[in-house]
Amino acid sequence: MEDINKLLNEVINEEKLIYGVMSKLKSKKDSTYKKVTIKPVLIKDEVKIQFTYHYEKKVIHENLSFEDTIDKTNSLLGDYFRQGVLFTKDADYQILISKKGKVKILKKKPTRKKVNLEHNRKKNYIIPENEPCPFLIRLGVMNEKGRVYSKKYKKFRQINRFLEIVSDTISSLDKRNKLNIIDFGCGKSYLTFALYYYLVDILGFEVNIVGLDLKKDVIDFCNNVASDLNYNNLKFIHGNIKDFNDFDKVDMVVSLHACDTATDDALKKAVNWNAKVILAVPCCQHELFNKIHNPTMNPMEKHGIIKERLSTLITDSLRANILEILGYSVQMLEFIDMEHTPKNILIRAIKTGNEDSKVIDEYLKFKKFWNLKEPYIEKVMGKKLKEKLER
Ligand SMILES: C[S@@+](CC[C@H](N)C(=O)[O-])C[C@H]1O[C@@H](n2cnc3c(N)ncnc32)[C@H](O)[C@@H]1O
Repeated sequence: MEDINKLLNEVINEEKLIYGVMSKLKSKKDSTYKKVTIKPVLIKDEVKIQFTYHYEKKVIHENLSFEDTIDKTNSLLGDYFRQGVLFTKDADYQILISKKGKVKILKKKPTRKKVNLEHNRKKNYIIPENEPCPFLIRLGVMNEKGRVYSKKYKKFRQINRFLEIVSDTISSLDKRNKLNIIDFGCGKSYLTFALYYYLVDILGFEVNIVGLDLKKDVIDFCNNVASDLNYNNLKFIHGNIKDFNDFDKVDMVVSLHACDTATDDALKKAVNWNAKVILAVPCCQHELFNKIHNPTMNPMEKHGIIKERLSTLITDSLRANILEILGYSVQMLEFIDMEHTPKNILIRAIKTGNEDSKVIDEYLKFKKFWNLKEPYIEKVMGKKLKEKLER
C-alpha cells in the first residue's frame, strides 16, 4: 500500500489528477456502493476533489481537501476495492490489488486532457494569481511563477480580502505625511507584509509599519523576512500591546485575532492616538461569559455553546458601541467565510469626530439589560469614556 500512497501524494498534491475510478469490490457484502469516481472541482475558488459514490439507484457526492482525499482513497483501496484507475496529465495508472493484498501499479501513456480549473478562479484580486509577488514567494504562499500552492489558497484569499477591506479606508488617511501604522499581535505577519506591499509597492505611499507580538521567535523570523525583502520601513518589535509607547502619532491600528482582551488593549491605544483607521478582528473572547445575565435570556444562557457565541457577539457589539461613543463610524464586516473560521467579524472603525448622544443611551441600556457592571473595554478606555458616559 506504500506505493499507492506515494502515487496518490504525487498525483493529488501536484494537481495532476484528471479523473479516477475505484471498482471491483473485495467482497460483494462489503459495501452498499459499487464504485467510486473522483475528479477535481473548484469550490469557492479552491480546488477540492469530488468523490462520487455510485449506489444501485443513486449517487452521493462528497468534496474533500487534498489531505483527506489521500486518506480516503487509501482506505477505499485498502478496505473495499481491488482496482483503481487514475487518469493524470502525465500518465494513466492502473492499480491492481490481489486477494492477498499485493499491489501492482501499471503505468500507460495519458489518454485524457487536463482541464485548467485555475482559469475559472476569480481574477480581480488586489494581488493577482499567476504573477510573482516577492513577499508571497518568500512566505511560501506561491511559487516563483506566481502559482499559489493549493494548501495556501485560503491564506491567499484571506490576504486579498484583507486588502480589499483596507482599500476602502485609503481615502480617510492623510497621505501628506508618512503614515504610521501598527499591527498589534501580528503573529507570522502574512497580513502585515501584505499591508506593506499594498501601501508601498502598489500605491506608492510613505509608511512606517510596526508589527508587535509577544512571541520573540516570530518577531525574529519576521524581521529576517523584512530584511530579505528590503522592506526598510517595516519593523517587528517584541512586546506586549499594553506597554507599546514607541509612536506619538498613529494613523492606522490593525489587530487581527489578538487573544481575548488584548483586542481591547489595542482599541484603547488606537483611541488614545486618535488613529484615523482601526481594523480589528477579535478572537477567543472569554471575558463576558461569566458576567452577562438576564433571566429572559435563559433559553440562550443555559446552553454553554450558545452562551459562548452570545457573549462573543455581545463583546463585539460593546466594542463597536464604545468606538461610536468616542467619535468613530463603525462597520462590522465579514472577514473570511464561516467555513474557515468562526472568528470572522472584522470591526472597521473610521474616526469622524461625530458625537451622538443616542449611542451613549444605547450603550447604557444594553449594559443594564445584560446586568454588566464594567466590562474590561470600558475600564481600559478610562477617563475619556467615563466623562462621556457620565454626562
Ligand atoms: C492568532 S495570532 C494572529 C496573528 C495575525 N494577526 C493573523 O491574524 O494572522 C494572535 C497573535 O497575537 C499575539 N498576542 C496576543 N496577545 C498579545 C499581547 N497582549 N501583546 C502582543 N501580542 C499579543 C499572539 O502572540 C499571537 O501571535
